[in-house]
Amino acid sequence: MADFANPEVVQEEVDILLIGGGMACCGAAYEIVRWAEAAKASAGVDLKIKLVDKAAMDRSGAVAQGLSAINTYIGSEQDPADYARMVSNDLMGITRDDLAYDLGRHVDESVHLFEEWGLPIWKTDPATGERHDGAQGMTPLKEGGKPVRSGKWQIMINGESYKWIVAEAAKKALGMDRIQERVFIVRLMNDKNDPNRIAGAAGFSTRENKIHIYKAKAILLAAGGCVNIFRPRSVGEGTGRAWYPVWNAGSTYSMAAEAGAELTMMENRFVPARFKDGYGPVGAWFLLFKSQATNAFGEVYMAKNKEMLNDYPPYGQAAVPASCLRNHLMLKEMQEGRGPIWMDTVTALAKLRETLSPREVKHLEAEAWEDFLDMCVGQCGIWVGENIEPEKKNSELMPTEPYLLGSHSGCCGIWTSGPTDVGAPTSEALPGAPAHLPSGWNWGYRGMTTVSGLFTAGDGVGASGHKFSSGSHAEGRMAAKAMVKYCLDNKDLKVEFAETAEELADAIWKPVRNYMEFKDYTTAIDVNPNYITPKMLQFRLQKIMDEYVAGVATYYKTNTVMLGVAEQKLEMLKEDAQKMRAKDLHELLRAWENYHRILTAEAHMKHIQFREESRYPGFYYRMDYNMVDEENWHCFVNSIYDKNTKKWTCFKRAHVDLVDKSKLFKPAAH
Ligand code: FAD
Ligand code: ADX
Repeated sequence: MADFANPEVVQEEVDILLIGGGMACCGAAYEIVRWAEAAKASAGVDLKIKLVDKAAMDRSGAVAQGLSAINTYIGSEQDPADYARMVSNDLMGITRDDLAYDLGRHVDESVHLFEEWGLPIWKTDPATGERHDGAQGMTPLKEGGKPVRSGKWQIMINGESYKWIVAEAAKKALGMDRIQERVFIVRLMNDKNDPNRIAGAAGFSTRENKIHIYKAKAILLAAGGCVNIFRPRSVGEGTGRAWYPVWNAGSTYSMAAEAGAELTMMENRFVPARFKDGYGPVGAWFLLFKSQATNAFGEVYMAKNKEMLNDYPPYGQAAVPASCLRNHLMLKEMQEGRGPIWMDTVTALAKLRETLSPREVKHLEAEAWEDFLDMCVGQCGIWVGENIEPEKKNSELMPTEPYLLGSHSGCCGIWTSGPTDVGAPTSEALPGAPAHLPSGWNWGYRGMTTVSGLFTAGDGVGASGHKFSSGSHAEGRMAAKAMVKYCLDNKDLKVEFAETAEELADAIWKPVRNYMEFKDYTTAIDVNPNYITPKMLQFRLQKIMDEYVAGVATYYKTNTVMLGVAEQKLEMLKEDAQKMRAKDLHELLRAWENYHRILTAEAHMKHIQFREESRYPGFYYRMDYNMVDEENWHCFVNSIYDKNTKKWTCFKRAHVDLVDKSKLFKPAAH
């Protein structure tokens, strides 16, 4: 009988395994069904597919609380090349145009599907120009309806139930018999006969004493980004608050690295400026409400410090300075004692009252609250608790602790195969692009990593960014199609594990065994010289990263020596991580999340160490190389991890622009 000490081991063989149930995997789950059906009809191949999510899909991943905008919708006003340009500019020039362009030409289809499935999308009345809630039921986007654009790329939604809606479609398409919720994947397995090929994944149920081992030919690893590797600003009574979701624990990056996949741009991070303490997003305020942020004395730092942008040509010269540069200008005020930073909500709402109809004003004042109620309810708690009515009292802004992600305003992740047609000799898709793709940017299957059969999407795909919810969904759909093709091309492939089921089970259950063996050694369950609690280990990781790898403690600054200290401390932390205990399934989850975090943190540190410049001022500064060095570092930094020697190898990969970027820039000011 399975109990906590003796879990049951369940083995299953599938063709395609989807890991994660967030935006990317929901997109894949929806899309894969029709390609799999086509494969059955045309080639007689009946593909077995399974999706596993560590949580419940209705509310899992970064969209759990809902959202109030879809941040990537191209529409008829822009084209995919404009989008690739914007992505490049916001990420300081080092992104893959092939991936961004490809995403740009597919993303709107996902948005149209969301609307078809019931997501209310705000519309502009073409007759009056007035803006309406999605509930008004005006012409759908697909039929030419005009969205309400908060910014050039973003459209407003009533999105509290966004994830429910998207998950419902995914579940309906795939069917619950092919979905397993509350299974946490711990590691991937490579093929015994071809170590550069994927063969399966292993994890455990977070509700039952069960270990799950899946054999699979193709895997989509889309388990989100990485949160909580840095000590958060919210500590003590605020512990648990974060901007990106705390349950995205670096599983994507760490498991891919252990499987031997090449990572890219792991030095990149996102330090979002957020409403202080509640982490409320700022996009709607800056873009829709046209609010400005000021220092303590009401000075608009973006205007006051604009000369600082000249230190970073060409990126500082863009019409919209990159997110990191906006932080850079804000940080000057804070570091020189002119904080706090205010979001001037009072002036913004007063100005809107001057031009809008009374109905629209009421609608927008409601939106000031709904923006947070839809996607960050804790911020409303702060407003209520601190008696803040945004039309009467301004709110504080703060740059948060760093987050690692590849779908939002960041671009760390896995190096993946791009589309076959963009930039290819016969391509009509991208006029003006070089006649061939830079070598190494395409190896057949869109979204496949450098490990055969291992795919990724959303936060997993590096060197792109600004895909957001809609783009992650679209990227999942593209990967699904490519995975089916991969399976058809490898019909007779049989994969095998090098490890036995017992070895895998033993490794996964180690934290439980640590606990069982030593729990009676002391009388206080959390105090024991033979094991460490996952919570304490996480504090240690966060302290190291915060103090040495450019966290908030040092105002995002580090240098070679600090990184060297971090390197040593992380080594020892990795050693001690073997002693993590799990007194129940919840702690087992926490233990493995920590393990994934540590490896992701190490990748981040190694990449920062390797890149001898400060590519993202405002996100982090290497004080010993405190400049953007276009001559030597206008390139990707990629890495490979060897799980046997536990060593990272970082290297440069050449960067090439496929889309002309000159449109972005004003002439240099000096
Ligand atoms: P996720 O959607 O995060 O999904 C990851 C999935 O992996 C989850 O289902 C998780 O449970 C699962 N998982 C994780 N680890 C494991 C494991 N080891 N085993 C099994 N399963 C695992 N985008 C917009 O378009 N507009 C916005 O306004 C917007 N605002 C945002 C506001 C906030 C507060 C946040 C957090 C995000 C926002 N985004 C917004 C971004 C958007 O949510 C992400 O870009 C998108 O969700 C990324 O998709 P993904 O599939 O890569 O990851
Ligand atoms: S959210 O995803 O958590 O809601 P956020 O509010 O920062 O993120 O951003 C939403 C969108 O607005 C993103 O596309 C982001 O790039 C954009 N954005 C936020 N602030 C600004 C700004 N000051 N200028 C231009 N774009 C911005």
